[in-house]
Amino acid sequence: RTIYLNGSWVDEADAKVSVFDRGFLFADAIYEVTAVIDGKLIDYAGHAARLRRSLDALRTAMPVSEDELLELHKDIARRNGIKEGLIYLQITRGVQDRDFVFPPDMQPTVVMFTQQKRVLDNPKWKTGLALQSVAEGRWSQRQIKTVQLLYSSLMKTEAHRQGYDDVLFVEDGYVTEASSANFHIVTPEGAVVTRDLSNALLHGITRGSILDLAQKAGLAAEERLFTLDEAKSATEAFLTSATSFVTPVVSLDGNRIGTGEVGPVSRRLLDVYIRENL
Ligand code: PDD
Repeated sequence: RTIYLNGSWVDEADAKVSVFDRGFLFADAIYEVTAVIDGKLIDYAGHAARLRRSLDALRTAMPVSEDELLELHKDIARRNGIKEGLIYLQITRGVQDRDFVFPPDMQPTVVMFTQQKRVLDNPKWKTGLALQSVAEGRWSQRQIKTVQLLYSSLMKTEAHRQGYDDVLFVEDGYVTEASSANFHIVTPEGAVVTRDLSNALLHGITRGSILDLAQKAGLAAEERLFTLDEAKSATEAFLTSATSFVTPVVSLDGNRIGTGEVGPVSRRLLDVYIRENL
């Protein structure tokens, strides 16, 4: 693969970052993942806007211009021949001798790579996912898309060992989100419900697009807190993310959700999202 690293295009074998990089030592870094279908960037404007918000939260200036950022995304897909897959972008605060205090004027490290992946051919869209609820254990600033993903990684790996597809984080009885996707339910009345935005969860770009599409499709959409119990008694549930679009959830802690099969609302929102973006 051809990697973008600090203004240069290099082969992945030559893409090296210092051991003193604060991304490595402090997880002092943010990232974005954008899907590519037929060479086209999906929901790019949303990802670029959230990148700016994450950088603001880290009090770091945008290291490349808006136009340049878009060109880099197009260029890296082209250079790596990505028709279908994803583009990963990470910006760290940069390199400094290890110190908890960082100066205001550091030179950020910017890395981009691609992953070829058949994002339109997801077997879980037919079978649905089995989720396991676990206590929320991440830090409290989850609206910032940081690379501080250890808790999510440990919990998802343990859930996999136990035969689940993913975890569902629960805090004070309320659902926050899954390890790397937002979680939504469909109520017995047919409304799509998703948690309202706060520091408790990542403000998913796909989440926002799906809420718009649900409303356009004439579905009621509610942004509010909901409990694990409400999720368990939902008619349908689904996850949204840049790499999985809309993926149905059919069981939670071993209990069937609705009929235990992929539901019509989830299926319809997936179809509408793909159609909208092709
Ligand atoms: N994850 N919540 C969390 C914790 C996430 O990590 C993600 C995305 C989402 C969905 O956000 P979006 O719709 O903007 O992708 C929600 C990416 C895909 C990842 O870490 O690979």
